[in-house]
Amino acid sequence: MPICFYENERIFKLDTSESSYIFGIYEDGFLVHYYYGAKIPDYNVAEFKYRGGFASVSPTKEYIKDNRFSLDIAPMEYACNSTGDYRIDALSIKNSDGNTATDIRYVSHKIFKGKKGLNGLPSLYANDDGEVTTLEVETIDKVTGAKVTLVYCVFEKLCAMTRSVRVENTSNSAFTIEKIMSCDVDFSGMNYNMYHLYGTWAKERTLAKRHLEHGIQSIQSKRGTSSHNHNPFLALADDFATEDFGSAYGFNLVYSGNFSAEVEVDAYETSRVNIGINPNDFEWELKPNEEFTSPEVVMVFSNNGLGGMSRTFHKLYMNNLIRSKWKNVKRPLLINSWEGSGFDFDSDKLIAMAKHAKNIGIDMLVMDDGWFGHRNCDDSSLGDWYVNENKLKGGLSKLISEVNKLGVKFGIWYEPEMISPESELYKKHPDWCVHVPKREKSIARQQYVIDMTRQDVRDNIFNQMCEVLDNNNIEYLKWDFNRSITEAGSAMLDEKHQLEFFHRFILGTYELMGRITSRYPDILFENCTGGGGRFDPGMLYYSPQIWCSDETDPIERLTIQFGTSMCYPPSSMGAHVSACDRTDWNTKADVALFGTFGYEFDPDKLSEDEIEILKSQVKEYHKYYNVIHFGELYRLISPTENLYRCAWENVSQDKTEMLYTCVTMRTPISQAFFQKFKGLDENKIYLNHSDNKLYSGALLMNAGLNFSNNYSGDDGTSFKIYFTEVNK
Ligand code: GLA
Repeated sequence: MPICFYENERIFKLDTSESSYIFGIYEDGFLVHYYYGAKIPDYNVAEFKYRGGFASVSPTKEYIKDNRFSLDIAPMEYACNSTGDYRIDALSIKNSDGNTATDIRYVSHKIFKGKKGLNGLPSLYANDDGEVTTLEVETIDKVTGAKVTLVYCVFEKLCAMTRSVRVENTSNSAFTIEKIMSCDVDFSGMNYNMYHLYGTWAKERTLAKRHLEHGIQSIQSKRGTSSHNHNPFLALADDFATEDFGSAYGFNLVYSGNFSAEVEVDAYETSRVNIGINPNDFEWELKPNEEFTSPEVVMVFSNNGLGGMSRTFHKLYMNNLIRSKWKNVKRPLLINSWEGSGFDFDSDKLIAMAKHAKNIGIDMLVMDDGWFGHRNCDDSSLGDWYVNENKLKGGLSKLISEVNKLGVKFGIWYEPEMISPESELYKKHPDWCVHVPKREKSIARQQYVIDMTRQDVRDNIFNQMCEVLDNNNIEYLKWDFNRSITEAGSAMLDEKHQLEFFHRFILGTYELMGRITSRYPDILFENCTGGGGRFDPGMLYYSPQIWCSDETDPIERLTIQFGTSMCYPPSSMGAHVSACDRTDWNTKADVALFGTFGYEFDPDKLSEDEIEILKSQVKEYHKYYNVIHFGELYRLISPTENLYRCAWENVSQDKTEMLYTCVTMRTPISQAFFQKFKGLDENKIYLNHSDNKLYSGALLMNAGLNFSNNYSGDDGTSFKIYFTEVNK
């Protein structure tokens, strides 16, 4: 059984194929954490709750006679505010008396097969009931009447689990949740590095690493999006861990709004990790009988370093998060109009692009921003989602049918959560934008954010989108979001509920995305947030791919894509070959092959020779599609750790096929270059398609190959080697 409850010792043990997670019920119902890490067969770890004697200033309950136990130092399963645990807490409820003392105690538990969905929130799912086992531990805060249910879902085969928390008000008066984290895990010791993904627009998800120190280290977003600046991902790994060795624990929040992730190391060397909705600017009132559900956190354990952790996340997200049919069906190869034409296009220009696409072997033309209202630059028309007939003469259907006649599919761009002050919609509904009374509205990219907390707003946008999508053969939709939220508030919420705005906003977005994606199950959706500002599992639930970044320079992209691969699979990373001129076409394609692969430039500006190069790239895209989309990723040389090169491998699940790619970012000091490979079967014999020689998996992984004289070391160049198993 993946989940066991040992009655006598009052211990829960949650096992996956390679990990164990153990906690128990201490005196009077306190839930205490014992262990999370590599799988252990027994559960005799209750002693871990003691951290030596505690100070006289540490309060305790009078009935606890054991002077080794205090909430001030014990590892807790879900820490509460203001009742003796002074570290970062997971739950803080302001009760009707106005104080925030919170104290939950065990009541009962249930273990069952399968996994329930989360009310209004994206979450992982079980494909069949045998795949996941759930534990729900019910607790009660007797004073507030808050029934707090801790939910654990164990994905036994994938070495992963999820956690979330439900709070129900069983009392007769309202209370307010001020902080609710999706998990809290107290690690014993502090010999860990913390990994996280930071950045900004066009520099998203750069991997950062720091050793844990006493005190609090944290990341967060307050922008209304999960953000370009910090991803809702955090990992702890043994301080000696590498890409391949050591324990790594990944935490990834299935949420696209404001989040916070914190690690606090106390004087007793407990390292407490939590992640959840950012408590800053958050409050949620629960009236009697109402319920609140936190987003879900995905927790992955790996005993094979960060690489093992990433591969588990990738499998989990492909199997149990992404729902679109396009996760398994081969996706169309597309060219997007944005970098090639910006707002400056008309039907003729798009048809010319489609002709080029057909000639090169590209399957789909995506018309990006600029097709609606009277939008010719970024100063108008968001919210007016009807076609600009000055640009697209004869309308959208005519254009699409011409494009389709060429044998090319058609995709479109939307930014549904935005409104331009210069739009018909804003003139009619000036209160529909996000704003607060009396304060001037900040503007970004000449646009406001539309109030997604409102049902009337969502219905209007939904109906406008359906009008276009119902009447046109649109096979792809890019859903964009190009600014952060300021002056957060809604005209529909009274003063007592304004701090519910941010969470209500993202619930509104999920509701609209849910309606659109289920009405159009055949459309391929790509999320985008000014590049990758919402590259998170919440968005992956609705769209199988996300535009990684507005940075399309291949060398800059390496850092972004490597960081993104910490938890998101290659098939989810929107990556295009663009016209930027820092490298040649070969390197651009090799880097775009890290992800979905596509194009983004004006093909009219290409020479005949360049068109021929693109045709051969398209062939490679088809050849390597399966090993990239359905294989496993091994990071070999990191662009943030190595000055000169970056290299990775895509290995098929059955280890019969491997694609190795290497990019030289800067000319190295010397040409000497030996590469050992990973993830192969040492007993298989592989054909190297570049030198036509045979090598054992053992040789490739242990001796590696000597590239010192074979490949150009010039900066900006790249090469690939394809290996396939030969049957003896
Ligand atoms: C954002 C996206 C781009 C493009 C533009 C259009 O910046 O990331 O890919 O769609 O918006 O305005």
